[in-house]
Amino acid sequence: MKVLLVGSGGREHAMAWKLAQSEKLTELFIAPGNAGTSAVGTNVDIGVDDHDDLVKFALDQNIDLAVVAPDQPIVDGLGDLLRDAGVTTFSPSAAAARIEGSKIWSDNLMTKYGIPTAESEPFSDSGSAMEYGRTKPEGTLVVKADGLAAGKGVIIPETYDELDSAITGMIDHGAFGESSSSILLAERMTGPEASVFAFVDGEHVSAEIASCDYKRVGEGDVGLNTGGMGSYGPPEFWTQELAARVRTEILEPAAKALVAENSSFSGVLYAGLMITEAGPKIIEFNCRLGDPETQILMPMLDSDFLEICLAVAENRLSESTVEWSSQPHTFVVAVSEGYPGSYDTGVEISGIDSAEAHGVVFHAGTAIKDDALVTSGGRVLGVTGNGDTIKDARDAAYTGIAEISFEGMKFRRDIAERAIQD
Ligand code: AMP
Ligand code: GLY
Repeated sequence: MKVLLVGSGGREHAMAWKLAQSEKLTELFIAPGNAGTSAVGTNVDIGVDDHDDLVKFALDQNIDLAVVAPDQPIVDGLGDLLRDAGVTTFSPSAAAARIEGSKIWSDNLMTKYGIPTAESEPFSDSGSAMEYGRTKPEGTLVVKADGLAAGKGVIIPETYDELDSAITGMIDHGAFGESSSSILLAERMTGPEASVFAFVDGEHVSAEIASCDYKRVGEGDVGLNTGGMGSYGPPEFWTQELAARVRTEILEPAAKALVAENSSFSGVLYAGLMITEAGPKIIEFNCRLGDPETQILMPMLDSDFLEICLAVAENRLSESTVEWSSQPHTFVVAVSEGYPGSYDTGVEISGIDSAEAHGVVFHAGTAIKDDALVTSGGRVLGVTGNGDTIKDARDAAYTGIAEISFEGMKFRRDIAERAIQD
């Protein structure tokens, strides 16, 4: 089969790496890809937002399966365009992707179908939002942009003043452009967080897998939010009882709710959860695989990823079995100096071969320049390690990343540390 994968990050390298292991694959194209994906397929110089060119490429090349990985093109309806053109496609429709693309739509869905989440109110007028804020104790609300905001659309204010500036920043001053012209004020929940993923095809929900990611740049979860500094799984607090609750209280009802709303979901449903004292509650739903979770999920997937994507795209997931490994995995990301602020690119990278003796190296912001591997982004690459225990998995990932070097390279040293039992 000829497959086109749309995306360019570390998640997409992990997906390409897994697709390339399928016996069904004859040719893999990645648009636009990175230096890592060029080792397992052919990069195509078309951006993820160039929908017409992507459809044309898929038709010209007789692509048998298109897989759309990032949130923006899914929410913007690339999956629908490809399907309308006759291309078999793994991507939720734009209608189903509202579960991620509009936090207000998603919150209404959860409220209507009794899916546990934070109590929330929508606002598009800053005055009313600030007034509502005063009816709650200080530091108990979070402010969320309605639309996509590159993972940065949530502010957690401690004081009323901070709450007011978050509200006016978003609604009146367009902190996230159109995405924040409407907002949600949500009850602030506490507890450990988990990212849970399942393949969903209509009402059918595959076996699920849980993991944890790290969003802040600094050790101890301090500093600015990033695209993700690392991940591990399974989480130390993830029990069979919890998994069963998440399945019956969240994943299955969500799949059913989407069908009932004429927005049947077909793809990967990502439940961002907080495990509160009252049980698991949704922080947010996403309509895709997560980054950097995918860099452990693909190595943990015991089934043929291409076959599953095809089964979902052809609405016959119920005939397939999705199996996940329970072996511990840890993924550590190396970033450019200055990230998530400004940083240099074009910096030469060495040590990949030595790192591969300890784990799998997944590229994100890398490129080939004059035959040398160089940085081309903030999150440059990462190493996934596995082992019999989470400590072994963590040691493998850190031994691997220590083999890699580029000027200004930084990484967090505490990924998966909390999961190790003394
Ligand atoms: P999101 O972009 O929705 O994943 O949110 C980013 C981060 O903000 C989450 O990983 C949580 O740590 C935090 N967050 C979002 N919503 C809430 C909430 N209702 N209560 C507490 N923390 C939240
Ligand atoms: N892991 C966060 C995300 O993919 O949105």
